[in-house]
Amino acid sequence: IDRNGVKHFDLNVNKAQHEFFDGILTNTFSISSTYLGPTLLLTNGDNVSLNYTNNLSEEVTMHGHGMHVPANMDGTPHQTIAIGETWSAQYTVNQNACTNWYHPHTHHKTPHHVYQGLAGMIIIEDDESRALDLPNRYGIDDIPVVLQDRFFTADKTALDYSPTQMQISRGYIGDVFITNGAIEPTFEAEAKEIRFRLLNGSNSSVYDLGFSNGKSFKQIGGDNSLLEAPVSMTRLVLSPGERAEIVVDLSNDSGASFTLHEYKNNKTFMTVNVSKNATAVTSLPNTLAELDPIDLSLVTNTRKFNLGMQNMVFTINGKAMDMKRIDEVVPLGDTEIWEVTNMMGMDHNFHIHATHFRVIERNGSAANVLENEKGYKDVVYLKGKESVKLLVKMTDYADATVPYMYHCHFLEHENNAMMGQFTVV
Ligand code: C2O
Ligand code: CU
Ligand code: CU
Repeated sequence: IDRNGVKHFDLNVNKAQHEFFDGILTNTFSISSTYLGPTLLLTNGDNVSLNYTNNLSEEVTMHGHGMHVPANMDGTPHQTIAIGETWSAQYTVNQNACTNWYHPHTHHKTPHHVYQGLAGMIIIEDDESRALDLPNRYGIDDIPVVLQDRFFTADKTALDYSPTQMQISRGYIGDVFITNGAIEPTFEAEAKEIRFRLLNGSNSSVYDLGFSNGKSFKQIGGDNSLLEAPVSMTRLVLSPGERAEIVVDLSNDSGASFTLHEYKNNKTFMTVNVSKNATAVTSLPNTLAELDPIDLSLVTNTRKFNLGMQNMVFTINGKAMDMKRIDEVVPLGDTEIWEVTNMMGMDHNFHIHATHFRVIERNGSAANVLENEKGYKDVVYLKGKESVKLLVKMTDYADATVPYMYHCHFLEHENNAMMGQFTVV
């Protein structure tokens, strides 16, 4: 913290070597570490300076995914960090408690850079979330869980990022599943409520998550906020870029051992060993957050975003990403509906920078909106031919020249032009 009260985070973007497999060092990229980067713990209202120094031998950018910040602090392809340079994202944290993350957004390089290990979590707390008495002892009962999958070269000394055209379309889903950069790690849990902050940090895998013993859990938060009330579930689907905070009550599971499993690919992410000594009683509140009411009378404009493909290039509204073109100009403070339609048979999702939205309809009906997607979100998952209506509002930061992005967060799709740009004026 400097004399002006600004919290500085010095983050070195490095080449590194990480031990995924016993005794073998794999070449990676990382942020002040050997794979991935540190979790940044922020509080609403903090003045921060995230100082990223590029020690790679290529350009990079660093985007705060889910962060509500001015366009020139967003770390998009327009804020490149030259080799050897430092770029600082400076802003006042201006949003409610949630689990965000940071990752490169380098033009034509995002999936490559994320694959090498450039990503980290950003946890935001606020007075309301602290007053709720949720599990919040970082690393003890409040656990960041970055879920990814990777291919390695045969000798395991490098990560193998070489998707075929088919894998670019259908997903580049590795055969090794990793959690916080470790292969099937074990978490030694206290026998009490544990909060897991799950991030699908994969390039293009949809994860269908559950515990191997069928244990139910409660989702308490989505991408950009706590939910109004906990949602009880036994399985959770997360598409690339999405986050979910879940609480699992282990107070009656002393001595038990089970795994966090991924059912689509039948892989284990991690083992949870529960302590033999029960420690505490359950306290999860029934009301978590108050969200603004959905008021459609405020809507001034509807925009359509059709996800498709032309000549083997992914498109939004028939257009491939162009860094020099502004696709949409959105008035500051207006309430809009963005209708996103997946025209294709394959999965996509849709991410909007700078803001959070509410999902108000899925496939033509409010009744189809999933219970656990009713908070504020910034990524929404669309299976083949699905459509969603989003209530969108851009607030606080206008900039007529520097754009934000919207895109599919399947990174192979994003990198193959399924992305557009908008300014807020
Ligand atoms: Cu997670 Cu435009 O990014
Ligand atoms: Cu983003
Ligand atoms: Cu896509």
